[in-house]
Amino acid sequence: MSEPDGGAASPPWTAGAAWIDGRYCPVGDARISVLDLGVTRSDCTYDVVHVWQGRFYRLDAHLDRFAASMARLRLDPGQDRAGIEAVLHGCVRLAGLRDAYVSMTCTRGRMLPGSRDLRTARNSFYCYALPFIWISHPEQQETGARMRISDLIRIPPQSVDPTVKNYHWLDLDLALLDAYDHDADLVVLRDLSGAITEGAGYNVFAHVDGGGLPPGHGTLAGITRRSLIELAREAGQRVDEGCLTADNLLRADEVLVTSTAGGIMPVTVVDGAPVGTGTPGPLTRDLRDRYWASHQDPRYSTPVRYEEPA
Ligand SMILES: Cc1ncc(COP(=O)(O)O)c(C=O)c1O
Repeated sequence: MSEPDGGAASPPWTAGAAWIDGRYCPVGDARISVLDLGVTRSDCTYDVVHVWQGRFYRLDAHLDRFAASMARLRLDPGQDRAGIEAVLHGCVRLAGLRDAYVSMTCTRGRMLPGSRDLRTARNSFYCYALPFIWISHPEQQETGARMRISDLIRIPPQSVDPTVKNYHWLDLDLALLDAYDHDADLVVLRDLSGAITEGAGYNVFAHVDGGGLPPGHGTLAGITRRSLIELAREAGQRVDEGCLTADNLLRADEVLVTSTAGGIMPVTVVDGAPVGTGTPGPLTRDLRDRYWASHQDPRYSTPVRYEEPA
């Protein structure tokens, strides 16, 4: 793992730092080949962890999920777990960020020239750290986001396993563009049976009939979703993982989305109608406070190694 070369602008690279092809660089200089199967076929997996106030949140859980996804896709990052971890710390350190969005990707890479044999591809691995990203900005969280239930069907889990974090996002992106046309900020897609799945980078959770109801399958096993369920149960709330329908969502007292990119974020309008009182509800506010407080808990968070050369 080499340090940045002398020719590049010197760190901190506050717009973001990347590690690619075995070296660090400003994120704007990180390049990937147009022939990489990650680009031409979405043949890759990735994970995103965040850093808040100088600490990684649930880094082990993200590394576990990334390792499981790579194993499922038969991808080899060419780094062991400690190596991946060192590079993540290195990107945050070189960007000098206290609050960061930190992404790691492993792609199939390029096949040998003239070959169509996937087995000739050497997998590629890269990471980057950016300033923290919010799906719903803190100001928007004061009033809550507006969500649309899309008519588009989420790619079925039988085709692309949603528990392997992936870049098959055309359904999500097109649904989101359509949601913008309907004056919504967020979108959620249903599966072929009509059950609610997830949206563009987040899981969804509704408080309905006195309990929390997150979809139990057909989605990414979000780590923020897991945190929310644990925190809700610790607070004595009932949570029933199962099937969430559009009807549940429309008559829920409270709706929220969960993501590493922003945590626990209230939704106060679904398909143009107010959720409950039409303002972020007490349960959502309480869980959001507990979630951010848990970032100081050493059971969940680890300090970034700002001093240590990666
Ligand atoms: C499709 C999808 N669902 C859910 C999530 C939320 O997962 P996590 O809480 O682990 O960030 C993401 C995160 O990017 C996602 O892409």
